Amino acid sequence: MSIDKNYFEKFIRSTEKAAIGAYPFIGKGDKNAADQGSVDMMRNELNSIDMMGEVVIGEGEMDEAPMLYIGEKVGKKNGQQLDIALDPLEGTNFVAKNLPNAFSMLAVSEKGNLFSAPDTYMEKIAIGKNLPKNLLDLDFSVEKNIKLLSEAKKKDIKEITACILKRPRHDKIVKSLEKLNVKIKFISDGDVSGAISVVDPDTNIDIYLGIGGGPEGVLAAAALSCLGGQIQTRLVLDNEQKKRVLKLGIKDIKKKYNIEDMIKGDVMFFASAITNGEIVDGIKDLGNKYEVSTFALHKELKIFKKVKNYHLK
Ligand code: FBP
Repeated sequence: MSIDKNYFEKFIRSTEKAAIGAYPFIGKGDKNAADQGSVDMMRNELNSIDMMGEVVIGEGEMDEAPMLYIGEKVGKKNGQQLDIALDPLEGTNFVAKNLPNAFSMLAVSEKGNLFSAPDTYMEKIAIGKNLPKNLLDLDFSVEKNIKLLSEAKKKDIKEITACILKRPRHDKIVKSLEKLNVKIKFISDGDVSGAISVVDPDTNIDIYLGIGGGPEGVLAAAALSCLGGQIQTRLVLDNEQKKRVLKLGIKDIKKKYNIEDMIKGDVMFFASAITNGEIVDGIKDLGNKYEVSTFALHKELKIFKKVKNYHLK
């Protein structure tokens, strides 16, 4: 079975509306207000859809997030049973500081088919399409992974570009990359876009690696699953989180998740740009209406689209 194709346009509207919710906060320095603006709009929109939806990745666990928390039921309680991973505002700093690459994002699968990653950190390694399955591994050294990738792509190591979040926790990886003479593309935030960039030939990025948010890892996996890329992940947990995660039913806390462990069956993915993105333009205020651009994917129907819609103010 697959996701009813009629949901495609409805979910596009959800991320578009969430993007519009953050728009007034661009450059205003208040990332929480921007996030709330997106959450409110996305929640309203999801609740107008004829579906039996459940948030499996959301704003946090029930006790810490009043809206769009993990386990929240969304939709009009009729229609298909769907699991939803959402990030109404991916790149809160980007909106607060008026920087590119802020998106409203959402992925959807049939019930039970998305990994409900806890809100913890996650190790990630992602590569593009047409490469041997499970080529790279989080347990290999950076050197070994880069060499394997360079051989598989028939591309000199010095021509390989690696994308990584600029964080002190990545200093060791960065040193290894520098030693190998790999080109490094640092990003300050927004590692869903970073991970997805490995399938976009225009970016020239060959590999995304490092530690970022767990929920963001599943969203990236959803997009890569539609686009034929690969990603392997593993949760990074402190002692407190280990206890929490065991309670959530995750038994093997050291498990390495390949893409098919996180995304099963059919999946749709949507990213509406708030500020300008590499793939789609940010929101344009046209006076009486907003122009919103979305990158929209449906795996089963092999739909990869850039969609532009208009919303009256
Ligand atoms: P927010 O939009 O929630 O602020 O997340 C931005 C982000 O850069 C993610 O893309 C990334 O996975 C995570 O933060 C990294 O976390 P940290 O900033 O703690 O290193």
